[in-house]
Amino acid sequence: MSEIEKLEQATLAAISGAGDDAALEAVRVSALGKKGSVSELLKTLGSMSPDERKVQGPLINGLRDRVTAALAARKSDLADADLNKRLETERVDVTLPARPESQGRIHPITQVMDELTAIFADMGFSVAEGPDIEFDDFNFTKLNIPPEHPARQMHDTFYMAPQKDGSRPVLRTHTSPVQVRTMMSQKPPIRIIVPGRTYRSDSDQTHTPMFHQVEGLVIDQTTHMGHLKWVLEEFCKAFFEVPKVTMRFRPSYFPFTEPSAEVDMQCERRGNEIRFGEGNDWLEILGCGMVHPKVLENCGLDPERYQGFAFGAGIDRLAMLKYGIPDLRPFFESDLRWLRHYGFAALDFPTLAGGLAR
Ligand code: PHE
Repeated sequence: MSEIEKLEQATLAAISGAGDDAALEAVRVSALGKKGSVSELLKTLGSMSPDERKVQGPLINGLRDRVTAALAARKSDLADADLNKRLETERVDVTLPARPESQGRIHPITQVMDELTAIFADMGFSVAEGPDIEFDDFNFTKLNIPPEHPARQMHDTFYMAPQKDGSRPVLRTHTSPVQVRTMMSQKPPIRIIVPGRTYRSDSDQTHTPMFHQVEGLVIDQTTHMGHLKWVLEEFCKAFFEVPKVTMRFRPSYFPFTEPSAEVDMQCERRGNEIRFGEGNDWLEILGCGMVHPKVLENCGLDPERYQGFAFGAGIDRLAMLKYGIPDLRPFFESDLRWLRHYGFAALDFPTLAGGLAR
């Protein structure tokens, strides 16, 4: 056996014998390092005659290549063995509680949606939903807002590109189109709330282009404005967690309700704080009224037979009032510091029995 073959055998044996990264590195240095055995051999090529180099060159370079390859192979074997050992010994106990710092928080909007769903569910309402991109017909026309009606200007609508038939879908400007969808697809009695996203081209400290509303709709044969007042009063007491609220129904106008009213809650403002159920101030919280006979008719219900009420409130505003949040814009900026401050614990799901917000 030649010297080169002997060196190769010894080096390869050392490589496969290396039990960890440090041992392998020592073998690499002893072979391929500056003064390593293979490096020294390579250096001898310089002083050989051309003929000798033609013979020895391929042998020595081949040795270097095989040693290099063996080192890399061993390195990856060691890494695999390491991983396998960890996989065998380390187990994740999925039954352990999450660490507090890794827990997410519930956004105040989601929290308030869950709270009002719990409150209205207790009064027999179910939750209905509709699409964010809505037909013009459902967002406006069926709600008694025909094309060219001035009430369309009250909503700064985002219009989509026109369809083949010339109609333009819109980003819904309120949750009221879900009234239409529900009346067209269900027979009364109807008792729904619709929490969801709504859009208007509007932006300042209290307006964002996307915001949230909750719609309410009750249709049967006998429901009247007294029921509307009771439902809203019960809701406000439960939501703001006060024993008594005083509400003011101000006559107003919506094309889809008649009569229509805006509802103010009595309150007292002290600096940044607002208290409900006392004081000399009034704060507007929602719009409502008896569903307009034309809307019932547009949705296929006989207005001689059916009647009921509807209301719509801003969820963002409810959240700001209840939790003392002064600016609306950070709601949608995904700043984790804000979320940690104003967010809610994930497992404290609001219920009437357990408490709405803890
Ligand atoms: N959709 C109305 C708005 O966005 C609110 C409303 C809903 C009023 C239902 C009356 C009845 O301004």
